[in-house]
Amino acid sequence: MLRIMAAQSPRALSSATIPHEARFAAHLVEFVQRFGSDSAGAGEVRLFFAPGRVNLMGAHLDYNGGPVMPMAIDRGTFLALRPRSDGQMRIATSFEETEALLDLDDLCGGAAPLAEGCWWDYSVGVLLALNAGADGGIDCSRGFDLYYGGDLPIGAGLSSSASVSLVTGAALNAHFGLGLSVEDAIDAALWAERNFVGVMCGIMDPFAVGFAKPGSVLLLDCRDRSWEHVEIDADKYIVGIIDTMVRRELAKGEFNLRVAQCAEAFSVLSKHAPDAAFLSEVPLEVLCDHEADLQADVAKRARHVIEETLRTYEARDALKLGDVAAFGCAMFDAHESLRDLYDVSIDELNTIVEFARSQESVLGARLTGAGFGGCVAVILRAGAEEPFREAVTAAYAAKHKNEPRVAFYRGSPGLGEVAL
Ligand code: GLA
Repeated sequence: MLRIMAAQSPRALSSATIPHEARFAAHLVEFVQRFGSDSAGAGEVRLFFAPGRVNLMGAHLDYNGGPVMPMAIDRGTFLALRPRSDGQMRIATSFEETEALLDLDDLCGGAAPLAEGCWWDYSVGVLLALNAGADGGIDCSRGFDLYYGGDLPIGAGLSSSASVSLVTGAALNAHFGLGLSVEDAIDAALWAERNFVGVMCGIMDPFAVGFAKPGSVLLLDCRDRSWEHVEIDADKYIVGIIDTMVRRELAKGEFNLRVAQCAEAFSVLSKHAPDAAFLSEVPLEVLCDHEADLQADVAKRARHVIEETLRTYEARDALKLGDVAAFGCAMFDAHESLRDLYDVSIDELNTIVEFARSQESVLGARLTGAGFGGCVAVILRAGAEEPFREAVTAAYAAKHKNEPRVAFYRGSPGLGEVAL
């Protein structure tokens, strides 16, 4: 299924739907400044875009087989690719001075390389996944320059890693003419993050990035990967993201610990729930009856997962009926559970959610992404954006040292090649 990114017929992202035209042009200028204008006859520069995402409901459910409700945002990753006449892969980014020059034969032909702990591990991981999946491997004589940039904050819980991985998949698919589907690119991104970088993430982020639609939330069932779009009335409601600007280095370890705790809970509880294939499917009564068999922290994690699953199904039904107020209440409840049961919130996030709760214009708020820092997502009444921005910034400044960044979104047209 070639929705957007078939090499033969890439769907162009039109400048009418993505307000990035000037930034795309600037990115190409930067590409030339970094890499020079001489492509030695190897080919023209092509430009690709992948959005970030905010998750509105279904926190930490994707790796537990539960329902999630992310929405792609129109901030994202830009990637310029230009073919080279040798077999090298050069990678650079507008965010850092460091760059890499890697030999495709060494990467794809010999012993499997190891991740280096650098930002380009995601790019290399995607390349390795695509090479493994391509009939006879990729053509290692066809090198390329990659230059990343964009306007998505890194490590803020807005899925910069899935955005980087999928934009890489889209660009390499076009460069090598692999004819991949969006789901193939999603699988390559998942392989890169889990098997190469080493974060045991679930499927939500690449699905949210890969199947974005403006004005819609993606309802993804992580049991079987089925999905549909659910619309939010963009004339009435808008999604806001308040970035605490707090970044936690510990996040990867803490995230993997939560994944392991959920696996442990499932191994104990599934003995009493033979029909459950995932922790999200364990009935609440089973948890109540056997909570004492679990360590205290593991029991809290399991309670969050099981209750959040029920809450997300109710929120989905409410949103489908246009009851955004009920959906918003579920977001507040989800935040409390993430704070008290899953232990992934921090003071800065709690300050924003509590302030949001006091605002008449806000229908719901919760931390988004893995937690431990990053952003709060809110749903508010359209038209209230600027007063809310001012008020939340002042309320935050009264308690914390750093200044939050506030932005508003109505979804994103998603992943694809940009028509130049
Ligand atoms: C991170 C992971 C996702 C998901 C969220 C929490 O963003 O990458 O797979 O688990 O945390 O909902």
